[in-house]
This record gives sequence, structure tokens and C-alpha cells, in this order.
Amino acid sequence: MSTAPLLSVQDLTVRFRAESGWMTAIEEVGFDLMPGENLGIVGESGSGKSVTALSILRLHARATTAIPKGRILYEGRDLLTMPERELRAVRGGEIAMIFQDPMSSLNPVLTIADQIAETLRLHQGLDGAAARRRAIELLDLVRIADAPRRVDEYPHRLSGGMRQRVMIAIAIACRPKLLIADEPTTALDVTIQAQILELLRDLQAELGMSVILISHDLGVIAEFAQRVLVMYAGRIVEQAGVRQLFRAPLHPYSDGLLAAVPRVDADTNRLPAIPGSIPDPADPIPGCRFSPRCIEAVERCRIEAPALLAAGEGRLARCPPRVARGAAS
Ligand SMILES: Nc1ncnc2c1ncn2[C@@H]1O[C@H](COP(=O)(O)OP(=O)(O)OP(=O)(O)O)[C@@H](O)[C@H]1O
Ligand SMILES: [Mg+2]
Repeated sequence: MSTAPLLSVQDLTVRFRAESGWMTAIEEVGFDLMPGENLGIVGESGSGKSVTALSILRLHARATTAIPKGRILYEGRDLLTMPERELRAVRGGEIAMIFQDPMSSLNPVLTIADQIAETLRLHQGLDGAAARRRAIELLDLVRIADAPRRVDEYPHRLSGGMRQRVMIAIAIACRPKLLIADEPTTALDVTIQAQILELLRDLQAELGMSVILISHDLGVIAEFAQRVLVMYAGRIVEQAGVRQLFRAPLHPYSDGLLAAVPRVDADTNRLPAIPGSIPDPADPIPGCRFSPRCIEAVERCRIEAPALLAAGEGRLARCPPRVARGAAS
């Protein structure tokens, strides 16, 4: 039995150089991902989900990025200090990523076959007819009908859902151990969204990968993940099993995200939004970053930055009053 995490992100802080100076995009982010596990990362726009994901593959522009703190251990090796050559083998080979914007990730002047072949050549040395055969197999695997014909088409001939399937085919081409999917369904309508999530779930089971699924929609995360990290303003504010989170969220921000999940039994489609907006990272606020929007905030919340506290059963939450109450009940 393997109990070592596949990926262990520890204390990760990432800063970017902006016009007005350096700003902190994510701070002290840490989590473990076990082999075969599905982890969700949820939070509003700007909470640091993509910055966290891109850090794992070291995809930030070097000149304008600083990582003053943290380790990202993949099978025990630190991706942050790994030589570029070694990292290239991990990237796309062992760890694959589906980027947030599928349109700009596909090359409009290359056929689907060429784009898949590129990955196969790079990581598996496959070429020519063998690569083409494998590309067709992969399109079959992501349930694209009529794969031998589709493989020769250009991206603009495909629907949004199909393009996303192609992106998934490219991502799994080298049978990665970890797939990071950043908002893979956001641009799609609900029916296609459900199909893509189902496909990801099937592939995850067939290939035995671990998956990190990023979404601003807790409903999507609930469909897919076992465990969830809730991010707010560059920090993890809660970590919990998905069921635990739905049953009893510990952080007031998680309450707000849950309230925004459409419910099948509700008689209205209007979703309550959390009043206010995420703070500008260039202008950090003291104390708890959520305090200006929190109806439960007390004086102390506006002064002291809360720590991420253990709250039993593998749960963590960055809200001392709530954790104290939760522990007492
Ligand atoms: N390359 C960059 N340079 C400067 N700031 C950046 C850069 N990338 C991200 N940021 C900032 O870091 C913060 C977190 O951004 P991030 O893209 O991780 O958000 P997100 O949670 O993925 O949001 P969304 O749901 O909109 O995708 C934001 O304030 C963003 O403006
Ligand atoms: Mg993002």
C-alpha cells in the first residue's frame, strides 16, 4: 500500500512584479495529493487557483516572478529546484495540464493529428503512422465519434465540447500520473459540461491518474472531487472532504460559495452572491482577508491574520472563532 503523496505542495508563496511593485498572488499554500486522488480547488476569480496550478509546472515568466518560499515535491523531488531538462520530461509526460482557455491552447493552423503527434514525438518518440494510429486511439478514448476522419480536421471545425475533448486527449496522450484541469468546463453549456466531467471521471479511473480540478463553481467540484481546497485572496481558507464541506462548512467564505450552488430542489434560479469583492492583491488588507465581507467578523478578525487551524478529520480552516465553535459542538 502506498501512503506517500504523489504531490506535496508546501508553504508556497508566489509574487509577481507589477507596475506598482511586487505583489503577492498566493501565500503559504500547502496540500498533499495522494496517488489516484481527485482534488478540487475552488474560489472566486482572482483567488489564486491558476497561479497555484501554473507553479506546479513552473510555468510563470521567470523575470517577473519570485517564489520566496515553498517546495513542490513530486514523488519526493522538488519541481521548483529541478534542472530545466528534467522538468521538461515531467511536464506533459508525468504531469499534464488542461489550460483555462482551450481556444488559445490549440494551434489553429495544425490539424488535430499534428497537435497530438507533437506531444507523442516529444515525450514518447512516436512518429509517422504510429503517431497517427495513437492519435486516433486517443480520440476514441475521449469518445469523439468518427475519429479516423476527425483527426485530420482543424480546431475551428470542432464544437467547444469537442475541442475540450481534444485538449483532454493531448493531456492524457502520455498517460500522466497527474492531470491538472483548470476550469475545463467553464466555457461550455451545462449538458456538455456534465459530459466532460463524466469523461474526466472515467479516464481518471481507467488510467489511475490523480486529478486536480480547478473551478469557481463548487457544484462542479462536488460532482468530481473527493477533497476540496477553498481559496480566497491567495490563501487556502478551508480544506475538507467534499461531503464534509457540504454538510458543515467551517469557513464563512465556504458558506457563501455553497449558497451560490444551484440546487435541484430550489424553486428559483437566483443565486445569492457574496456581497463585496475579493481584495486587490496589490493593496493587502490587515487581519483576515475575508473580514470586510464577513457578517460574523469581530474586532480581532480585522487585526490578526488567522492561521490555518486543524479542525479534526483531515480538515483545516482559517477561522479561529468558527473552528473553536465547531470543536465545541
Ligand atoms: N502573471 C501575472 N502577473 C501579475 N499578476 C498575476 C499574474 N497571474 C496572476 N496574477 C494575479 O494573481 C491573482 C490570482 O490570479 P489567478 O489567475 O490565480 O486567479 P484564479 O483563481 O485562477 O481566477 P479565475 O477564476 O479568474 O481564473 C490575481 O490577482 C491575478 O491578477
Ligand atoms: Mg484561473
